[in-house]
Amino acid sequence: MCGIVGYIGNQDTKEILLKGLEKLEYRGYDSAGIAIQNADGVHVFKEKGRILDLRSIVDESCKANTGIGHTRWATHGVPSHENAHPHQSTSGRFTMVHNGVIENYSHLKREFLKDVSFKSDTDTEVIVQLIEKLVNEGNKVEDAFSQALKLLKGSYAIALIDAENEETIFVAKNKSPLLVGLGTDFNVVASDAMAMLQVTDQFLELMDKEIVIVTKESVTIQNLEGEVVSRDPFTAELDASDIEKGTYPHYMLKEIDEQPLVIRKIVQAYQDDQGKMSIDQDIVDAMNDTDRVYIVACGTSYHAGLVGKQFIEKMANIPVEVHVASEFSYNMPLLSQNPLFIFISQSGETADSRAVLVRVKELGHKAITITNVPGSTLSRESDYTLLLHAGPEIAVASTKAYTAQLAVLAIFASVTAESLGRDISLDIIQELGIVANAMEVLCGTKEEMEQIARDYLATTRNCFFIGRSIDFFVGLEGALKLKEISYIQAEGFAGGELKHGTIALIEEGTPIIALATQESVNLGIRGNVKEVVARGANPCIISMKGLEEEEDRFVIPEVSPMLTPLISVIPLQLISYYAALHRDCDVDKPRNLAKSVTVE
Ligand code: F6R
Repeated sequence: MCGIVGYIGNQDTKEILLKGLEKLEYRGYDSAGIAIQNADGVHVFKEKGRILDLRSIVDESCKANTGIGHTRWATHGVPSHENAHPHQSTSGRFTMVHNGVIENYSHLKREFLKDVSFKSDTDTEVIVQLIEKLVNEGNKVEDAFSQALKLLKGSYAIALIDAENEETIFVAKNKSPLLVGLGTDFNVVASDAMAMLQVTDQFLELMDKEIVIVTKESVTIQNLEGEVVSRDPFTAELDASDIEKGTYPHYMLKEIDEQPLVIRKIVQAYQDDQGKMSIDQDIVDAMNDTDRVYIVACGTSYHAGLVGKQFIEKMANIPVEVHVASEFSYNMPLLSQNPLFIFISQSGETADSRAVLVRVKELGHKAITITNVPGSTLSRESDYTLLLHAGPEIAVASTKAYTAQLAVLAIFASVTAESLGRDISLDIIQELGIVANAMEVLCGTKEEMEQIARDYLATTRNCFFIGRSIDFFVGLEGALKLKEISYIQAEGFAGGELKHGTIALIEEGTPIIALATQESVNLGIRGNVKEVVARGANPCIISMKGLEEEEDRFVIPEVSPMLTPLISVIPLQLISYYAALHRDCDVDKPRNLAKSVTVE
């Protein structure tokens, strides 16, 4: 949430910053700003709205060699010009961008900054004012920076410039992602490598509470004790085309279409030299040692966890609980003797999940993270990582990461089952190949999906998704997809549950999307459809080949019953996409949301 960039060098600073912010816009998009610095001083341009709005107010003729920029997802204070970053100290000497949440900002204001008149409602302004105060008290800027950071409680990624020093960007992070990128005669700062791939693919990872001094020629990292730390850069393994839309109108549609390829990549990545599925032996051992698995995740990743529980329990016969991360600390279950935690997170940065991970590590338990982002916070702080290999997911609504999570969980469960000597009678490589082919077929049904969106969702206020057994979990994901991008009130229910209350909401024409992919519950779900039809609902039944009936609106190809969530979700993703499109919604950047939710 929120994206930061910084540049120091001889190229067109303002353009590099703006291009970088465009790449980070998925992290937050309610306001944006840049500060660029030249011999005349620091020039701040900021605006409520998107990067496009910011571009329109930036003075084209303003040349500079140093600059910082920010795209915001509001936490403290409404989206407005005043609350947009960068923020400046009273004298204008210091200018800062910040991602994260400073929990003790009110206390710091009261304790140290009583006489300061604040221009914004943000926690960020407190930090920049604090630095100015410490400098006014006689501290060198570097010392003031580090002293101020020591007073902060919470999360931050920060870039600071000083009007009296055109040669330096001061950088630090704690619990929020931030990287420094390296170039010849320039260096950069970014929340995500993809923002600066335009100028470099060499990056330095930063650790929490380090202080980093970035100049055109050098990057100096200091640890908490003030000692200089040396660190090797890594090459960002991102292809610039991975982060472009290409000919697609939206990232979401591109990412939906990428799903068959992602599944094939995952199969390749987890195959050993003998062509068998394989995962790190330490992870297999951890699974063999545990008596209960606790899956912790949020949103779409939580929905993947619900399906993952079925995979692990049915294949490996290990009990699994699935928990929403944001509730875990309050409703912490009684843990088993040898618990093993699995965190599922596309971004690997989700603050709610990380808070649980920190607690789990304090308790001395082992944790695996399943993530799309190598080197992300959750990955670094867990004992083991399983990567999704889905490539960057940029649309806020998660699609390919969800199916990648399911594929990795299926492989993980099958490898664990094999290590425990269980015969699952499922050739997972072959079955995932069938899944990838079925996905391709489904990605070719866009016109039909667009028609379904028109027929059922063009004007409706609400929509219910029902399913039984594993279809129920896919229904939850379908409902989340639809509501987050089309703003139609959509809810997923277990087929049998509707009559216990929610059926009261069914009116003439209420759309009900029912999934019928499981033979074992086929009669049950069809009975539920009859109940809602009797009350005026407009049913859209999506069934699987072999189970179809005349009344069905769409039939998905046949795959192994356990793996149906990987494909039955695709029609739901596409229907949501077209519903949002028809309602003129901003598909890739839905209101109030942001990718990578780094606040609790
Ligand atoms: C919905 C969506 C969110 C995320 C959730 C967790 O389309 O993307 O619900 O799934 O914010 O994010 P990660 O997986 O990055 O932890």
